[in-house]
Amino acid sequence: MNDRDKLELDDPLELFGLWLREAERSEANDPNAAALATSTLDGVPSVRMVLVKRADQRGFCFFTNAGSRKGMELRQNPKAALCFHWKTLRRQVRVEGRVTDMEAADVDAYFHSRPRSSQVGAAVSEQSRPLASREELEERFRRFAEQHPGEVPRPPYWRGFCVHAEQIEFWMSGENRLHDRFLFTREASQWKRTRLYP
Ligand SMILES: Cc1cc2nc3c(=O)[nH]c(=O)nc-3n(C[C@H](O)[C@H](O)[C@H](O)COP(=O)(O)O)c2cc1C
Repeated sequence: MNDRDKLELDDPLELFGLWLREAERSEANDPNAAALATSTLDGVPSVRMVLVKRADQRGFCFFTNAGSRKGMELRQNPKAALCFHWKTLRRQVRVEGRVTDMEAADVDAYFHSRPRSSQVGAAVSEQSRPLASREELEERFRRFAEQHPGEVPRPPYWRGFCVHAEQIEFWMSGENRLHDRFLFTREASQWKRTRLYP
């Protein structure tokens, strides 16, 4: 199947999976990184990168601290947009939809699959709150690791969020700026595919 034929696929999740696997081979690091846009209830936007750890019919899922700025904004307004950009492939995928909490059992399983140091790091970070110094953070890390020599309990604020795609758009660079764009919109249990002008 050539690149343009792939765009003719009817299932955007299958197409996303193909593109992600190609990005895993082409990109220097973090092929699963995406910009995540959230906003406050009165429409003030904010954006930052996250790693999308799962992308299937259950949503495009990432993990974060629910007390962070993004976590607070998602609580106010549980809608988000993600944008993947694979520079080497010259491709972009945009995902938009409602956001829900991942099942606690799945979050626990992922948390405990990470290296112990990452678990401790997550537990001591009051993400997005002011921090007096780097030393304070390192001291908290040391103290927490000493106090929890065994399993690190997952902090309740460390959670998984899933964007349930209502629309997914694929963009692929073309010659003479004649790029290909396909927008998939969810209609009941089906996806409708529309080609867009570049
Ligand atoms: C490539 C990359 C991947 C990142 N992945 C995550 C992630 O998966 N979860 C997360 O909480 N922060 C991640 N970060 C840090 C966020 O971009 C951000 O700085 C942090 O989550 C605080 O954002 P907030 O204050 O808007 O909530 C990542 C940063 C980069 C550059």
